[in-house]
Amino acid sequence: MKVLVIGSGAREHALVWKISTSSLVDKIYAAPGNAGVSQIAQIVEISPDNLSELEKFVRKNKIDLTLVGPELPLSMGIVDLFQKKKLKIFGPVQKAAAMESSKVFAKQFMHKYHIPTASYQVFQKFDEAAQFVRYANFPLIVKADGLAYGKGAFKVNDDEQAVDVLKKIMLEKIFGESGNQVVIEDFLQGEEVSVMAITDGKTILPLLLVQDHKTLLDGDQGPNTGGMGAYSPVPFVDQKLQDTIHDKILKPTIAGLKKEGIFYQGILYAGLMLTSSGPKVLEYNCRLGDPEAQAVLPLLETDLVEIVQAALKEKLDQIKLKWKTGYSVCVVLASAGYPGDYQKGKEIKGTEEISEQEVYCFHAGTKISQNKLVTAGGRVLAVTAVGKTLGKALDKVYNAVDKIYFEGMQYRKDIAYKATEVKKYA
Ligand SMILES: Nc1ncnc2c1ncn2[C@@H]1O[C@H](COP(=O)(O)OP(=O)(O)O)[C@@H](O)[C@H]1O
Ligand SMILES: [Mg+2]
Repeated sequence: MKVLVIGSGAREHALVWKISTSSLVDKIYAAPGNAGVSQIAQIVEISPDNLSELEKFVRKNKIDLTLVGPELPLSMGIVDLFQKKKLKIFGPVQKAAAMESSKVFAKQFMHKYHIPTASYQVFQKFDEAAQFVRYANFPLIVKADGLAYGKGAFKVNDDEQAVDVLKKIMLEKIFGESGNQVVIEDFLQGEEVSVMAITDGKTILPLLLVQDHKTLLDGDQGPNTGGMGAYSPVPFVDQKLQDTIHDKILKPTIAGLKKEGIFYQGILYAGLMLTSSGPKVLEYNCRLGDPEAQAVLPLLETDLVEIVQAALKEKLDQIKLKWKTGYSVCVVLASAGYPGDYQKGKEIKGTEEISEQEVYCFHAGTKISQNKLVTAGGRVLAVTAVGKTLGKALDKVYNAVDKIYFEGMQYRKDIAYKATEVKKYA
């Protein structure tokens, strides 16, 4: 069969790599992919938000299945469009994707269905929000309602900071329409982990838990980024806590959506804070995380295309996910300046030297220019290694990273440090 993968990051490279190992797949297309993806898939120069061109391409080329990496096309309704045209695509419909594209919708949903999350208030008017924070207890988290490329959540420590952020979101509209409403919620203390689950709307198959590293610098310092690395599974989350996450969060989420008349098919991602009073949802995403996918997919033994096909037939109950034993660690290599304005066009050296078993060099912002591999984005590569122990995976991944060089390359040297530091969360 022919499969199209939409997106251009390292998450999509990992997806393309994973499905390239499927015996069901003859040909993979990527819109628009990147230099790494181009080695295993045919590049299609269509932007992920150009839904009508994507639909036309799929129809013309008789693509059998489309997988969507990023949230934007999902929130724009690509699944609705493809379904209307009887084209096979795996992901939530627009209404379901609102779990990610509207934080207000997600919070109200969690409140209604008693899914544990931080207490919150919603505001449509700047004056009312500003009035509220004058008498509030701090710290608080202020979030723009809509999509903001992972940059729409702010921790504020006093009313002055809060008003500042509210002004930017609601008056200056730094995220455009996404700032028409805000959520102001309590700051939760604890360890953050992500759970991604595949669902056909009935059965929920959670993937291995994974921990992202959102800040730029070691020790969780510096500005927030799209994610600087991840590892999986998370050793300090025991089976009991995993069961709680399933029973108190994933299950009631899918059941609640159904009650709302929303049939959720696709990946459901919940960002969790493990607090002293149990796991709480920080946010939902309607797709795989980046870099979480790059850490988790190399551990998955089951054929992903088989899983997706079963999900599309609502027969996910017939699938049992098989995982490699051991651990996976992903380290993101970023350009100088990232997450601010970053440099581009720097030659990347050493990727061809990575030949060890179960070490993967997933590309993000890369391209070929004058026959050279060069940087073309903030996050450039996501290097992943799988090992029998976390220590072995770490050795392998940092050995591989040591072989790679581009001018200004920055990365975290402490990915997975929490796994050894954090002992227990009730
Ligand atoms: N209630 C909260 N308490 C503590 N930290 C939070 C809270 N909500 C969000 N955060 C932090 O902010 C980050 C971004 O928030 P999130 O809701 O995931 O929005 P987005 O990913 O859209 O920016 C989270 O990963 C987490 O580190
Ligand atoms: Mg998030």
